[in-house]
Amino acid sequence: MGKKLEFPKEFLWGGATAANQIEGAYDIGGKTLSAAEMTPYIELMDRSNPSETRKITKEILLESIDNKEGKHYPKRYGIDFYHRYKEDIKLFKEAGLKIFRMSISWTRIFPNGNDKTPNKKGLDFYKCVFEECKKQNLEVMVTINHFDLPLWAIEKNLSWTDKEMQENYLLYAKTVIDEFNEYVKYWLPFNEINLYAFTSKMLNDGLDEKNIMKTIISSYNDLHKLFVTQAKVIEYSKKYPNIKIGSMVADSTSYSLDCNPLNVIENQKMEHMKKFFYHDVMVRGEYPGYALRLFNELGVKIDKEDGDDILLKNNPVQFITFSYYMSGTHSVTSDEKTEGNFMKVGKNPFLKATEWGWQIDPIGLRYVLNQLWDRYQIPLFVSENGIGVLETLNENNTVEDDYRIEYLGKHFEQISEAIKDGVNVFGYTMWTPIDVVSAGTSEMSKRYGMIFVDYDDYHNGTGNRYLKKSYKWFKNFMETSEI
Ligand code: BG6
Repeated sequence: MGKKLEFPKEFLWGGATAANQIEGAYDIGGKTLSAAEMTPYIELMDRSNPSETRKITKEILLESIDNKEGKHYPKRYGIDFYHRYKEDIKLFKEAGLKIFRMSISWTRIFPNGNDKTPNKKGLDFYKCVFEECKKQNLEVMVTINHFDLPLWAIEKNLSWTDKEMQENYLLYAKTVIDEFNEYVKYWLPFNEINLYAFTSKMLNDGLDEKNIMKTIISSYNDLHKLFVTQAKVIEYSKKYPNIKIGSMVADSTSYSLDCNPLNVIENQKMEHMKKFFYHDVMVRGEYPGYALRLFNELGVKIDKEDGDDILLKNNPVQFITFSYYMSGTHSVTSDEKTEGNFMKVGKNPFLKATEWGWQIDPIGLRYVLNQLWDRYQIPLFVSENGIGVLETLNENNTVEDDYRIEYLGKHFEQISEAIKDGVNVFGYTMWTPIDVVSAGTSEMSKRYGMIFVDYDDYHNGTGNRYLKKSYKWFKNFMETSEI
């Protein structure tokens, strides 16, 4: 018998996905390409060091429109959820999931990004998906935009400081809220808003720690507009009292490498600017002092319009969500780095890492849940957490993924510890219940699912679904609470 964990009965256990990583059908039903679907898969020389071998520039993206030969774009095909959603939703339900986090593809609803009216076929597709979830009694959480900007924004070099971008996004966001508020209770306007500052500008200098501060600094004005745009979505959503709007931040929990006060203060500075800054603005509705100090020192001037401050203050998010895969360290005395979720982080000698160099740290999840609850006192939700591994089917058509069982079980245990600490965390969606195309490396080989999908990095395969050992383990956990 395994260890029994304590969770409230109503705790929302679920799975998370994103349209550009699962749907495929990039040119069906009126849809056009999004930026994500233009990102080619590039074979990595060194999986634990992808930023050294894979730099995606705007030129590479634009080239992909004409040059379809000899390169491959896995996000155009995803896992064919577009055609197989009924089968997938049924499998999610049978595993015991209570909530499904998915995103809507902007270019399925507004194919050119800036159309005046929505594409009916796109709306119909999501209506069918939501109907299916309802039939299976699955709650839904929707990310309105998960890294898939329309091609129009890339071609016109738009960023969030451009009115055209804000207004077309708002039209899209309001349209989907109007259409689907009866089906969807939880909405996240932007996935990992702290990564948007640079992903939306398509700035990619390897995205390592050295560049990240520079890039973020040049993008604070973009971010400000993102915050304001999100506040406008929240304001609009008030006409539907049954729905709730939350934030989504890529967590970057880190520790000081040691107790050298210089390293401790460095870590605090980094935690401020890489994590709390975003929550502070979205929950408290104002810019914190440490950020104003940094802006002042760097000469960053936020171009605020009249009414921005009031909008932010009057429209805080109603719950916080965050993705949590790993933790890092900070120090001014050591340079040792490892790969992370979109950025390099300091190595921690006490932690093991995945094949992609992401340091596994379940206790860090309890730590961040406590940090966020202590600071904000609004409901929390873990919207992504999981482990990417190279896997193949064995002769019994399954994968004996004991490492995933261990990873998930240890993270679940730490959530239950945080609940005992008094933290109000009301749900968890694993990344992901089913194998999907990787966001960072556009490969299929980095598998996160409890369900194996038979496609390789070049979209060869049947697309058939097979249950891994973790699927049965999770189903049992849902029934017994035992890990
Ligand atoms: C999160 C993203 O940052 O990390 C997901 O929201 C992504 O879209 C996940 O898939 C894991 O990253 P990757 O690069 O391994 O797919």
